[in-house]
Amino acid sequence: MKTKKIYTAIVLAAGSGNRMKSEVPKQYLPLAGKPLIYYALKAFEESEVDDIVLVTAPSHEEYCKKEIIERYGLNKVKAIVAGGDERYLSVWSGIKAATNADYVLIHDGARPFIDNDLIARIMDMVALEGACTVGVPAKDTIRVVDSNNYGIHTPDRSTLWQVQTPQAFSYSVIAAAYEQVIAAGGCIPTDDAQVLELATGQKSKMIEGSYRNIKVTTPEDLLVANCYVNE
Ligand code: CTP
Ligand code: MG
Repeated sequence: MKTKKIYTAIVLAAGSGNRMKSEVPKQYLPLAGKPLIYYALKAFEESEVDDIVLVTAPSHEEYCKKEIIERYGLNKVKAIVAGGDERYLSVWSGIKAATNADYVLIHDGARPFIDNDLIARIMDMVALEGACTVGVPAKDTIRVVDSNNYGIHTPDRSTLWQVQTPQAFSYSVIAAAYEQVIAAGGCIPTDDAQVLELATGQKSKMIEGSYRNIKVTTPEDLLVANCYVNE
């Protein structure tokens, strides 16, 4: 009888990093001498997760294997798989490669500052809730605008959270949700909890993460990332 639950981290690194406007895809840009993607992989390597699936562009699989996984001894990376043209298609590739998992933690490889404490909290929470998301309370007022940029609605800030990753789910539930949303077509989800809601109506529990868990997206984020990594 199987009792120990298997937790698999799916680390996404198949994006093209358009907003970073750099020659080298942002996930490979150096941060304190190591490729940016190394930091998220290392955090999961040192955590209690059982294994890691790395999702990357097909042409980068060999580079990732030699220059990142082998070079830094990231032994929990059990598979490197090719992603798709949109984030949700890359997640789907990762899910299909994680068939042994009871729970998956889906993480943006462009978020280097997750730590063991956060990973441990999300592992505990997903076992209780079946679906959970890391985020932080919005600091700024958020306005909804119309197609001409006129503000039309200001949601109550106390109800607004900025969504981060990891997002963690029971494997069978998120796999079925992704399969259903992809088969239905017609939308490009940017968030995994959104896929679950669309497919099943199931809510994800929000866990308070850290304002440091930034997604390196535009050039100024790299300045911040360099400050954090050199502290
Ligand atoms: N990602 C992915 N596959 C895609 C798109 C994104 O695996 N087709 C990954 C990125 O590599 C990143 C994470 O999803 O780790 C979050 O996406 P984002 O920050 O938007 O990265 P990019 O899509 O690469 O950047 P941009 O949107 O500026 O092009
Ligand atoms: Mg993107």
